[in-house]
Amino acid sequence: MFRSLIDFVKFLESKKQLVRISEPVRAELELTEIADRVVKNQGPALLFENVIQKDGQKSKFPVLMNMYGSWQRMAWALGVDNVEEIARQIEELLKTQPPSTFLDKLKKLPELIQLASFLPKEVSRGSCQEVVINPPDLSCLPIPKCWPQDGGPYITLGNVITRDPESGVRNVGLYRIQVLGKDKVAMHWQIHKVGSKHYQKYKEIKKPIDVAIFLGGDPVLTYTGSAPLPDAMDEILFAGFLRKKGVEMVKCKTVNLEVPADADFVIEGTIDPTEPLVKEGPFGDHTGYYSLADDYPLLRVTAITHRKEAIFPSTIVGPPPMEDAFIGKATERIFLPLIRTTFPEIVDMHLPVEGAFHNLAIVAIKKQYPGHARKIMHSLWGTGQLMFTKCAIVVDHDVDVQNLKEVTWHLLANLDPKRDILFSEGTTDALDHASPTFAYGSKIGIDGTRKWKDEPGCREWPDVIQMNLEVKQRIDSIWSKLGLK
Ligand SMILES: Cc1cc2nc3c(=O)[nH]c(=O)nc-3n(C[C@H](O)[C@H](O)[C@H](O)COP(=O)(O)O)c2cc1C
Repeated sequence: MFRSLIDFVKFLESKKQLVRISEPVRAELELTEIADRVVKNQGPALLFENVIQKDGQKSKFPVLMNMYGSWQRMAWALGVDNVEEIARQIEELLKTQPPSTFLDKLKKLPELIQLASFLPKEVSRGSCQEVVINPPDLSCLPIPKCWPQDGGPYITLGNVITRDPESGVRNVGLYRIQVLGKDKVAMHWQIHKVGSKHYQKYKEIKKPIDVAIFLGGDPVLTYTGSAPLPDAMDEILFAGFLRKKGVEMVKCKTVNLEVPADADFVIEGTIDPTEPLVKEGPFGDHTGYYSLADDYPLLRVTAITHRKEAIFPSTIVGPPPMEDAFIGKATERIFLPLIRTTFPEIVDMHLPVEGAFHNLAIVAIKKQYPGHARKIMHSLWGTGQLMFTKCAIVVDHDVDVQNLKEVTWHLLANLDPKRDILFSEGTTDALDHASPTFAYGSKIGIDGTRKWKDEPGCREWPDVIQMNLEVKQRIDSIWSKLGLK
């Protein structure tokens, strides 16, 4: 657990996982070119200390990029050595039965107290408010323009806080934010995301929405903004669970929301849902293509605050693999146990980075009945953000889905295209440029499992070739005498 982003920077430096760059580098395109080369080589986190803004001035703030850009750094950012540790903790939590007898309750008391300590805590002062930029002026921040055809500079690691007007439940979503002026930004919450659902509710009651965007703080916080939690679950509470300590929250200066007290920057503002939408984009996106300009709400900034020694975190998305590959992989591992509570037949799942999370899901199942692979395809298309999955491949439980060579072998060997390919249609990711209409298109499911005789159009199915165990053991015992490596 890290209290702040600066703590994480110091930690990465102590592990020789961070390089400070003092050479002047422009916020426009140059940060991207360096970060892109480094991430593609699995290189270190980068702290740019001399960032040149659009007006030619040196930024007051350093820019941190690629902090999540390796599997090890991703784990450290979440306070563990291996992300699988979190998956195991979640599995344990899911197994916990509510206490039934009085004695049972007493025994469970320490666990319950521990859970209570993960709740957010409101504090009266926060380092995120040490300095107030008055009047609010976004041009003071080193906000990069990432790719040549981008519509403008973009905040790419901003966590957007809103509150549901009916239930009062808070949401934190990691959405890109395009800077349109000193105190105006476009809010790119896509139609399926919780921020957008809140927006629709405020539109119905014709009331402005309070919004707070925070950057930095404990790196766990930024991750939780990207996590596909159920709508009614507060990401700040989930962050508390991950860091094993409740997040300290402080009241905003101009809007009725709270933000993590140790964040580096906070941008407060309001969106009036009766105002016309503004053009957002294009933006060089994580599909590796530009997402086209579209209409999104305008946020008017009412306050900007920051820590005295603030670090501006940023990431670039683009042709994969990029830093978000590790964020997405963490989600795949952390959410697998939760998916398995509803679909215990799922043994493992892989969303290859080249598939940009939503284009391809490969799932291994313990097949139990005819048509089981098809049932799982439909299940994926109906589960949370997996609903965006364009291509769902289902293989048997003994295929290692993390090994694409093994998947290709079994999938193609077991495939009769006419029998095993299912076309469907439904919701697609808002970024999918190939679907014939916005956010709606076709899907393909491929059944790569061994077919059972009671499945339609199947003959006798052969076994996979495997050597006898006794022969393997005998050859093991004489291997060293054979003069082979
Ligand atoms: C680097 C990065 C940038 C993202 N940008 C956006 C974005 O601009 N708009 C969006 O709707 N989702 C974006 N996402 C995905 C959301 O963060 C993710 O779907 C999250 O679960 C949304 O939270 P919500 O369900 O609370 O809305 C981004 C994810 C990452 C890792």
